[in-house]
Amino acid sequence: MTAPYRAAITGLGAYLPERILTNAEIEKIVDTTDEWIRTRTGIRERRVAAPEQATSDLALPAAQEAIKNAGLTPQDLDLIIVATTSPDMIFPSASCYLQAKLGATCGAFDLAAACSGFAYALSVAEGFIKSGIYKHVLVVGAETITRFIDWKDRGTCVLFGDGAGAAVISRSMDGHGILASYLGADGNQSEILQIPAGGSRIPPSADSVASGQHYIRMAGPELFKIAVKTMDQAVRKVLAQENLQVSDINCLIPHQANNRILQAVADRLEIPAEKVFINVDRYGNMSSASTVVALYEAVKTGVVKKGDYVVLVAFGGGLTWGASLIKW
Ligand code: UT7
Repeated sequence: MTAPYRAAITGLGAYLPERILTNAEIEKIVDTTDEWIRTRTGIRERRVAAPEQATSDLALPAAQEAIKNAGLTPQDLDLIIVATTSPDMIFPSASCYLQAKLGATCGAFDLAAACSGFAYALSVAEGFIKSGIYKHVLVVGAETITRFIDWKDRGTCVLFGDGAGAAVISRSMDGHGILASYLGADGNQSEILQIPAGGSRIPPSADSVASGQHYIRMAGPELFKIAVKTMDQAVRKVLAQENLQVSDINCLIPHQANNRILQAVADRLEIPAEKVFINVDRYGNMSSASTVVALYEAVKTGVVKKGDYVVLVAFGGGLTWGASLIKW
């Protein structure tokens, strides 16, 4: 039975830490150049959380803005999902800290799907709304991923940044909202992108710290190829569910890992560059916060307008990937 309503994003918010880390500053830390970083990744600068800020602290102002923009109060929320790969602690979840800071009383859990986290969480929220179980779900993508970077590894330290974005998902009766979602994963390729230690496989020890196993490890070039292939495939899958074509997309909001990946995805899809939203130059890769912050900026600057077909697409560690087709 089809639900009489869709799940729609009714409020968005974002928070970027004040501290801007430029390529020129990274030149002083590792053997790299502003030129290399700009031409190979498109990144000019990224944000870094203040030492006292944990992931739930970045999530809070983003969530407050999204709730206000939805015309709600924290008490109206039925569920909070925080997509993150850098929670405040292993447990309690960042979402429980966020729930307390917001003064909300609903259920709350974290969702771990690395850079695809927001796409996954959005799809979970969609299920809760369309099934009629909940009326208002807060979905946050928030990361303090720079805490897990090896500042001696030039292959990764130039890429990542901290930030948070939030969306309130509610019922929509007028046809707009999420039209289709698609999620994918391949656990056989988990070693391509991981933080090996700190979990039950390799618990924290003097050895694990000394050997740098609490930092992000990434096989960049392998990931690059998979990213292009899976994002192209995920976009086509959500369009097919609604019998739409690539040419119907008004705005593509891809995970912001590397400008060259975004260009390659655009080429494969044969979508004009001006329809692909890009902010990787200012924030780098903010993992699960990337797509929601990009959507926030696209809406705020009028790039995305009422009635537009918007496709959100992401990929990341797991490996995971996912997409959502939204009629704005
Ligand atoms: O959210 C998902 C997470 N990550 C991604 O999606 C990342 C996907 N991968 C990438 O974006 C790219 O593979 C990177 C940006 C990570 C690397 O770019 P690349 O064009 O694939 O470079 P590469 O790893 O093949 O390295 C080429 C050269 C190497 O030197 P040699 O061996 O050719 O002499 C590297 O050592 O570039 C060198 N290199 C650097 N040079 C200056 C690697 N990192 C740097 C650096 N500065 N920061």
